[in-house]
Amino acid sequence: MNYSKKVMRHFRKPHNVGKIKDASGVGEVGNLVCGDMMKLYIKVKDEVLTDVKFETYGCAAAIATSSVITDLVKGKKIAKVLKMSNKDIIEELGGLPPIKIHCSLLSVEALMEALWNYHKKEGKKVPKELEKRHEMIAKVRQV
Ligand code: FES
Repeated sequence: MNYSKKVMRHFRKPHNVGKIKDASGVGEVGNLVCGDMMKLYIKVKDEVLTDVKFETYGCAAAIATSSVITDLVKGKKIAKVLKMSNKDIIEELGGLPPIKIHCSLLSVEALMEALWNYHKKEGKKVPKELEKRHEMIAKVRQV
């Protein structure tokens, strides 16, 4: 499998691995086809993601995309993070083999689920686009 150097770096030494005990939101998704799972924790203060951590039981691409997504969204405002897609992650990693593109969806979906969970926990109105993504994720992912 031809992975970029950046994918291999993140796979070998993933950033922000672990749990956030008092997380503001948690997202958990699984891929029923390959059996890989991901849990992503966020800490939010003043609508900014101040901390992000993840636990992944998955392939090299799933680990690398989870690692890079935590780097990309830490310190960013929720409104900006909501506009992200797996294309941003793939670009940041210098590409992924076509057969591994689906793995990058897992990290974005875990992040969106964590944001959805945060809004629910806080009793905040869930933004329309986030509600739509949550419904779509709920249909295709089960853990
Ligand atoms: Fe399952 Fe990559 S093969 S997420």
